Amino acid sequence: MRLTIIGTGYVGLVTGTCFAEVGHQVVCVDNDTAKIKLLASGGIPIFEPGLEELVKKNVAAGRLSFSTNISEGVQKSEVIFIAVPTPPQPDGSVDSTFIERVARDIAAALTGYRIIVDKSTVPVKTGEKVAETIKRYGPAKVDFDVVSNPEFLREGFAVTDLMKPDRVVIGTRSPRPVEAMKNIYAPFNAPIVVTDINSAELIKHASNSFLALKISYINAVAAICEITGANVQEVAAGMGLDERIGRRFLNAGIGFGGSCFPKDLSAFIKIAEEIGYDFRLLKEVQIINRGQMDRFVKKITDTLWVLKDKKIGVLGLAFKQNTDDVRTSPAIELCQRLQKEGALLRVHDPKAMTKARAILKDVTYVDDMNAVADGCDALVVATEWDEFKKLDLERARKSLSHPIMFDGRNLFDRSEMERRGWVYKSVGR
Ligand code: UDX
Repeated sequence: MRLTIIGTGYVGLVTGTCFAEVGHQVVCVDNDTAKIKLLASGGIPIFEPGLEELVKKNVAAGRLSFSTNISEGVQKSEVIFIAVPTPPQPDGSVDSTFIERVARDIAAALTGYRIIVDKSTVPVKTGEKVAETIKRYGPAKVDFDVVSNPEFLREGFAVTDLMKPDRVVIGTRSPRPVEAMKNIYAPFNAPIVVTDINSAELIKHASNSFLALKISYINAVAAICEITGANVQEVAAGMGLDERIGRRFLNAGIGFGGSCFPKDLSAFIKIAEEIGYDFRLLKEVQIINRGQMDRFVKKITDTLWVLKDKKIGVLGLAFKQNTDDVRTSPAIELCQRLQKEGALLRVHDPKAMTKARAILKDVTYVDDMNAVADGCDALVVATEWDEFKKLDLERARKSLSHPIMFDGRNLFDRSEMERRGWVYKSVGR
């Protein structure tokens, strides 16, 4: 099918590329001329495993192209996907400016029946507003359908999540666009859930908030484990074997971050507030998440006492592994908290150092993870990168003034670390 994707951020670019990969004819549109120029010349604006190869392959095959021209995209394609950002406003509510703007641009370019699909994460009832807007600004006689098709991809696993989705949600108020939507997704062999638009929109906010809740739950259990001497990883393993619970997203740590969970949680609380429901359960999820960082910083100050002029090595800056994204990263927040106490930091991240440089100043960026501990008083693990498990522990132990590690992601085995002579503090064990 001929598809246009408006917005070439994480969601738009990966979606467009994967649609091309399964044989659709895709145009990715963005108003950022520099980004489109970069993409058209074979460059990729983000790090996402597997993406670069797929973009190159599909551009070469003539199935994927890039443009800054929305109206051309609207005219050429049968289905138009909106994948523009929905950033938070200072009060936590969603800023729908970009969606509204794009809806008007689409309206202005409509000449015949089109399916307009919202992929961005939006408050419930946005689809209705998009439909009203297109009707208001579009030509009177042209028919269209608005569909909600939320995206559930995780950064770092975006291509895999897109190619093998757990489910595809299609929210629509008329049966007309269903067949076309099913055709688009047929090659992905995923269960398809057809709902009304409002339910589809709610599925996204309800899912992300539930996952955030799961993480805060295990972080709260981790606090209990620390007081009682239990081990949160064993508790999570025991809980996770119950199929109704599942082991995933039960990793205790320094709290969740990234550009989705904190934002979607605040948005969902705000959406509920606006319709008269006080979602206190989710407010507690936020409180626990903030407290998790406080407890970890306290663990460091309890051990090192005064941080002023202490040298601390930090492994990890990205908000999680397999990404170069440092937006709302707990690792960056941790670094800033330690800096505020006067600590001097040596930091390393396998992929996120370039992006971190823009927001984390006055630290020493170290290219080799094994050199981070050199001359430091302690080592901190802030991101769950798998490769940190291969750290040369013997070298780190000898490079530190005292072998002290604060493992905010429970990457190492506690008894093994203690056997090797480390003062080892982790989360919930
Ligand atoms: C999330 C959702 O998973 C995805 O479905 C949605 O489309 C976008 O938001 P993402 O933000 O890319 O994806 O990352 P995710 O892997 O969910 O991790 C989010 C945060 O939670 C990270 O900071 C991560 O370190 C943390 N986390 C995750 C934990 O602390 N413990 C866990 O068990 C899992």
